[in-house]
Amino acid sequence: MATLYINDKKKKGTISPEIYGHFSEHLGRCIYEGLYVREDSGIPNKNGMRTDVVEALKEMQIPVLRWPGGCFADEYHWKDGIGPKETRKKMVNTNWGGVVEDNSFGTHEYFELCEQLGCKTYINGNVGSGTVQEMSEWIEYMTFDGVSPMADRRKENGHEKPWKVDYFGVGNENWGCGGNMTPEYYGNLYRRYQNFIRHYHGAAPIQKICCGPNAGDVRWTQEVLKTCFAHPAPPEAHGFMEGLSLHYYTVPGDWQKKGSATDFDEAEWYKTLHKALYVDTLIHMHSAVMDQFDPEKKIGLMVDEWGNWFDVEPGTNPGFLYQQNTMRDALVAAVSLNIFNKHCDRVRMACIAQLVNVLQSVILTEGDKMILTPTYHVFHMYKYHQGATLLDSTLTGTEQIGGEDSVPNLQESVSEQSDGTICVTLANLSASDSAPVEIVFADRKAQQVTAAILTGTMQAHNTFENPDVVKETAFEGVAQTEKGLSLTIPACSVVSLRIR
Ligand code: AHR
Repeated sequence: MATLYINDKKKKGTISPEIYGHFSEHLGRCIYEGLYVREDSGIPNKNGMRTDVVEALKEMQIPVLRWPGGCFADEYHWKDGIGPKETRKKMVNTNWGGVVEDNSFGTHEYFELCEQLGCKTYINGNVGSGTVQEMSEWIEYMTFDGVSPMADRRKENGHEKPWKVDYFGVGNENWGCGGNMTPEYYGNLYRRYQNFIRHYHGAAPIQKICCGPNAGDVRWTQEVLKTCFAHPAPPEAHGFMEGLSLHYYTVPGDWQKKGSATDFDEAEWYKTLHKALYVDTLIHMHSAVMDQFDPEKKIGLMVDEWGNWFDVEPGTNPGFLYQQNTMRDALVAAVSLNIFNKHCDRVRMACIAQLVNVLQSVILTEGDKMILTPTYHVFHMYKYHQGATLLDSTLTGTEQIGGEDSVPNLQESVSEQSDGTICVTLANLSASDSAPVEIVFADRKAQQVTAAILTGTMQAHNTFENPDVVKETAFEGVAQTEKGLSLTIPACSVVSLRIR
């Protein structure tokens, strides 16, 4: 029997809501079809945004949305995506399938979407093929409330008042698709570009995000930060760097043969979870480097691309990265979010890739149909952690399972909301065995418990024909004990408890 000790007296920091963030790129059917269908579509929409998708995302409490890429960001020229749609420039989306990008979804449409979702904005700028002037003018266009060439243009295009840009990324993957730069070279560009991300009088501060490493590339972190903080020290008056990104994808095979999203065995189940858990080590590694430059942890580690990357669904465009989503994705989401919660002192944002129809999506669409994936349900079950206080928790009596690619059978995180409600999220990583757990509090008696469960076979998934094979249901199996609570979690499950 495993025991989960919750020390509700030991508070470990605030879980930033943005840890539950999302990413949307001009890639495949994420933006077009998935989120945006145009005003004249037969699919119910408000100003072009799909009503069914927007409603589901609001229900999941989406806190922030990153856009327009990804690799696409470093090829994106924002002026192509403003003004009358008929005259917007058409371009080739060279990164993703070589399709025509008609720029009908641009800056105005992005802010409209975020307004409908009620979420924060995170725009990724172009360093790879864009100029400092272009980036600077985009900031002026979006945030300046006064008379200026760009603000006037925004007004001409129908938006009198400026928008709020919460986060701005200075390039994306500049070690790769964003320009193949060395860390020293990018570090210098960061110093220069960020300087022209102006904080206009009266505008809310924009949090600037520096391009961080790919997975375990500690040298990138070290050298970028060394360059950024080298002599002469950057002025801090208007902020210099509020975040450093980290990208980490879980690929069960290799990049040539990643593995099927739905057709896998138990060995691949454990291999995938084992690789997903590695993000914990990555956070430790990069945080240790960040600590050298930023011991007070003012700069957040923004895991702004993470999730499973499998082979595309057979018969779909390889450049569109469309994949199904099973209970394996649910477990990867559950353990990753638990890890991010536990690192909330350094991890301030995480954006799963990507929101709809691309990679590990929370929603899949086909024409006017929409399904929620197992990953969606995990985000929904975990939403109570957003903005809550992380509590100290320890699991004892767990087992290492899965052979060569071993994982613990159970994993958890615990937080307390401002009204005192405790939220426990527990994952049973075993493909075959249920796990009894006792929950013990340092200083609390549980009066009332509400619980939910997401469970199914390893490959269980929702389809357009059977959309509710995997869905969150009430979990009745929690009993009060002398010491606290006890429950048995079925194999291959995620459980969330709300305890008052
Ligand atoms: O999410 C798909 C791609 O993965 C993004 O465009 C890029 O940043 C990363 O390599």
